[in-house]
Amino acid sequence: MAKITITNGGIEFECADDTIARAATRAGLGFPYECNVGECGNCRFELIEGEVSYVRQNPPAITERDAQRKRYLGCQAQPHGDCTIKVPLRDAYKSKHLPKKVQGELIAAIDVTHDIREFRFRLSQPAPFLAGQYALLSPPGVDGGRAYSMCNTGETGAEWHFQIRRVPNGVATTAIFDRLAVGESMGFDGPYGMAYLREEAPRDILCLAGGSGLSPMVSIARAAAASEALKGRSIHFIYGGRTPRDVCGQTMLQELAGYGERIHYHAAISMPDDPSAAGWAGETGFVHDVAEKMFGEHLSEFEVYFAGPPLMAQAVTKMLIKAKVPAGQMHFDQFY
Ligand SMILES: Cc1cc2nc3c(=O)[nH]c(=O)nc-3n(C[C@H](O)[C@H](O)[C@H](O)COP(=O)(O)OP(=O)(O)OC[C@H]3O[C@@H](n4cnc5c(N)ncnc54)[C@H](O)[C@@H]3O)c2cc1C
Ligand code: FES
Repeated sequence: MAKITITNGGIEFECADDTIARAATRAGLGFPYECNVGECGNCRFELIEGEVSYVRQNPPAITERDAQRKRYLGCQAQPHGDCTIKVPLRDAYKSKHLPKKVQGELIAAIDVTHDIREFRFRLSQPAPFLAGQYALLSPPGVDGGRAYSMCNTGETGAEWHFQIRRVPNGVATTAIFDRLAVGESMGFDGPYGMAYLREEAPRDILCLAGGSGLSPMVSIARAAAASEALKGRSIHFIYGGRTPRDVCGQTMLQELAGYGERIHYHAAISMPDDPSAAGWAGETGFVHDVAEKMFGEHLSEFEVYFAGPPLMAQAVTKMLIKAKVPAGQMHFDQFY
């Protein structure tokens, strides 16, 4: 058990078999982070005293300059004994439901498209979460936890459901799709993430999902549809895929009370010239273009949630900034 002291906050917390940022989050502190897998760099801290090593070797977000300045990634750094660090804590990063490590048994695996499958796990102990949050999964034989967002809602936290897109030759997705059978268990750590549903926000909701970004947007739409505080609000859901066989999510929204009245689904494909797209009657283009075309100057009236690959998240952010949507109304995860 190591003691971590944050010099600029006058705070101490314990870290046992954990990374520094995750131990801090578990202790209820607002340690900055985003991806939890060493890709975004949001969790950087300065090591003043002590020694750390990385769980994930050579995490992509760390630069030579960081190393020279003794800056480390909190989500990947494990302490060797007591450490003193410097990091700006922020209340916005405090977790409502403190993350914990649990086991989960696979109880169902259901195909959503040709490459997205929903995996449902029953947890060894309840772990509630906010709609839109994610967990770190440890598939058997895979080094390092991989982040996946839940698609169900998490008031009880008895089950966590994930919609996962198979990555060709991907290490974690191959293990989950091909080597995990119903009835088998694996480790989970969560919930994490700041792109959760803001029930207190008095605005209509726009959910933008690209590819594997389906899961957290379905969770947000489900929770928003059930929320008493949001019952007068419209929910627009735009899903973007490459060709018609990628398009999904509509059946999940159709199950929600208010579908077709205050809940609306729109699909877009980005490769309309593909032979398989012949006869496609929906929208064409990338989700950010479709959202801009549909809502234009009204975008700033929405609370906007989005998830997908970094290129999509960057394009959506740029479009929303241009449309003068305040940063506080944008909530997103980039799927590195
Ligand atoms: C916050 C967040 C939420 C996500 N939610 C979803 C989701 O709901 N559905 C979905 O399909 N995908 C989601 N992803 C993407 C997912 O985590 C994986 O990147 C993706 O499934 C590829 O995994 P792979 O191992 O099969 O592919 P690979 O090509 O083998 O691995 C690619 C990715 O794995 C990660 N990685 C590689 N090595 C390590 C390591 N040692 N430790 C930690 N990470 C490592 C890196 O991020 C890398 O980009 C999410 C990602 C993030 C960051
Ligand atoms: S949270 Fe640590 S690199 Fe993204």
